[in-house]
Amino acid sequence: MPYYVRLMHQEDVAQITEIDREVFPTQWPPTNYQHELRNRLAHYIVACDDDKIADQLEVKVPSEKDLAWLAARLRRLFSRQRSSSNKLPPPVGHYIIGFTGFWVMAEEAHIINIAVREAYQRQGIGELLLISLIDLAIELKARIITLEVRVSNTTAQNLYTKYGFTQVGMRRGYYVDRGYNIDSREDGLLMSTQDITSAAFQAHLQQLKQALSEKWGSPLRKQI
Ligand SMILES: CC(C)(COP(=O)(O)OP(=O)(O)OC[C@H]1O[C@@H](n2cnc3c(N)ncnc32)[C@H](O)[C@@H]1OP(=O)(O)O)[C@@H](O)C(=O)NCCC(=O)NCCS
Repeated sequence: MPYYVRLMHQEDVAQITEIDREVFPTQWPPTNYQHELRNRLAHYIVACDDDKIADQLEVKVPSEKDLAWLAARLRRLFSRQRSSSNKLPPPVGHYIIGFTGFWVMAEEAHIINIAVREAYQRQGIGELLLISLIDLAIELKARIITLEVRVSNTTAQNLYTKYGFTQVGMRRGYYVDRGYNIDSREDGLLMSTQDITSAAFQAHLQQLKQALSEKWGSPLRKQI
């Protein structure tokens, strides 16, 4: 499988924003991913397709300052590569096909969003992202994962239910859409896992990881 996940970097913001606008066209206000990268509570994971190169249009034209920074970075990279060849930065032009982000506060990880480009949906990438998010949340010492999802978004609800989330509440009029009418705000379901470190949750997660890797015919690739 050419798909793999890794943490999000500064240079991914243009592609992430493009995916965000594609799959959440009405969301208001739109998420500012530059701000999210600076948010110490936030953690973002991206899924990439090794077999595809990002369009030139998606790559920001570098300024003189950026070029000086890049030259310094390349110098550092090449001096580092001599000692550690297995810690390479993401390849230039890597094509992002989906992403997920969450905030960790005390023992709770709260999912901010999860999205897969339409052309790549229904192949298991949403699952790969959610699995990676759960594993990272555990590393960051979270015990439960929560989220809000539109009542109409049964696709996402199915994904969450498959991974053991259940409805624990309802947020009335939670979603505001672009050019919204106050009376047409959509309700959000509040969903939560049980303790993600519990034996029961972990056993279920292992089964799902195994099933996805069998479906793809290869181990799940994570560079996190
Ligand atoms: C939700 C989303 C991330 C799922 O990503 P995906 O890569 O297409 O999903 P996967 O292929 O990994 O599917 C995993 C599970 O999700 C559910 N699912 C995915 N697509 C579905 C569909 N079209 N209809 C019903 N269930 C669906 C199923 O439970 C599926 O498991 P299954 O294959 O055993 O039936 C994707 O549809 C998306 O980006 N939607 C728009 C953004 C969004 O709504 N995000 C959620 C905000 S809360």
